[in-house]
Amino acid sequence: MTFSTQLRIPGPTPLPDRVVRAMSRPMIDHRGPEFAAILARITSGARRVFKTSGDLLLLTSSGTGGLESAVANLVSPGDEVVVALSGNFGERFAALAAGYGADVVRLEFEWGQPVDADDLARVLEHHPKAKVLFLTHNETSTGLTNPLRELARVGRDAGRVVVVDGVSSISSIAIETDAWGIDVAVSGSQKGWMAPPGIALVSVSERAWEQQARARSPRFYFDWKEAKTWADKGMTPFTPAIPVLFALQEGLAMLEEEGLDSVYDRHARLARATQTGLQALGFQLYAREGFRSNTVTSALPPPGLDVNALRKLLDDKYGVVIAGGQAKMAGKMIRVGHLGAIAEGDVVQVLWAIEQALEELDVAPADGRAVAAATTSLQGVPA
Ligand SMILES: Cc1ncc(COP(=O)(O)O)c(C=O)c1O
Repeated sequence: MTFSTQLRIPGPTPLPDRVVRAMSRPMIDHRGPEFAAILARITSGARRVFKTSGDLLLLTSSGTGGLESAVANLVSPGDEVVVALSGNFGERFAALAAGYGADVVRLEFEWGQPVDADDLARVLEHHPKAKVLFLTHNETSTGLTNPLRELARVGRDAGRVVVVDGVSSISSIAIETDAWGIDVAVSGSQKGWMAPPGIALVSVSERAWEQQARARSPRFYFDWKEAKTWADKGMTPFTPAIPVLFALQEGLAMLEEEGLDSVYDRHARLARATQTGLQALGFQLYAREGFRSNTVTSALPPPGLDVNALRKLLDDKYGVVIAGGQAKMAGKMIRVGHLGAIAEGDVVQVLWAIEQALEELDVAPADGRAVAAATTSLQGVPA
């Protein structure tokens, strides 16, 4: 018996009641003073999360739109660019840049492995003409968080414009956009922000604006200059996703009430508990130790377990929805999201359901070991 769906995918994330209530209201004039006040509040709140004093643009699109805006505003056809990647979202960044006619230099690592800073430095040295560097903070497809501070420093020291896909990390995993030398960082409202999909958040540094003025890709809807001109007047150039902005404002208020450091600690605790619980069930964690993500855990199944059958049973019987692998890992991996409005009990619940399902699928008895391991981890006692 299930009464409600437990969304444990790496976004969209569950909406707190407060957020649902905040967006269930009549529309307002997006050229009026109430909207301007909301835009100002979200912009200043998001700046605090990104830790930037630069511009922070709110675009109506999913996260990919924010990433596309970075390419459209920074890259000219024929430009050499460097993309560091080790997963599906890094691939997407490379495909996006190629789609705009860039000559893409790929610095590629195996899936589940982080990008290496020394290798990055060497590639940049060999490609002095590549002005823009694309990095992925949290590679959601493999459950891995790259050492962003180090990688961004390498890019900045080499004088490149550093662009970061932080769609599934920013607001759940710490970032210091300005201090780490990041010129453009992108996030999406449906991840740690506890809002529905529909708004991309994009930070733009002075250096990024200089590059923007030189870049010659066609752009219209995603033209940052337009977004900034209108934002300065308390508006967006086009009709924005107003309900999502209502939600984002409330999500931000909740992040601030909890305190960002506590939010980051909570995500770290939940990740550890999920990892420990899955290991107790015989899953093998996919991402390299030391780089495992605090927002999503990826794991290979124990022998004899059909991942698709597990996911179907979890959904049908327990109302628990987890993600599978992407691209070449489809059907071979599970990914459990633990970002946004997720608490300790939610993690215990998903592990409990997986344990029950493993017994029903004749893979392993349900003896409570996943829940016990996760509980011990949450209590801070070494498992
Ligand atoms: C790291 C990363 N980049 C980009 C995206 C794409 O975002 P969207 O689906 O909002 O376009 C996602 C979504 O899961 C992501 O996790």
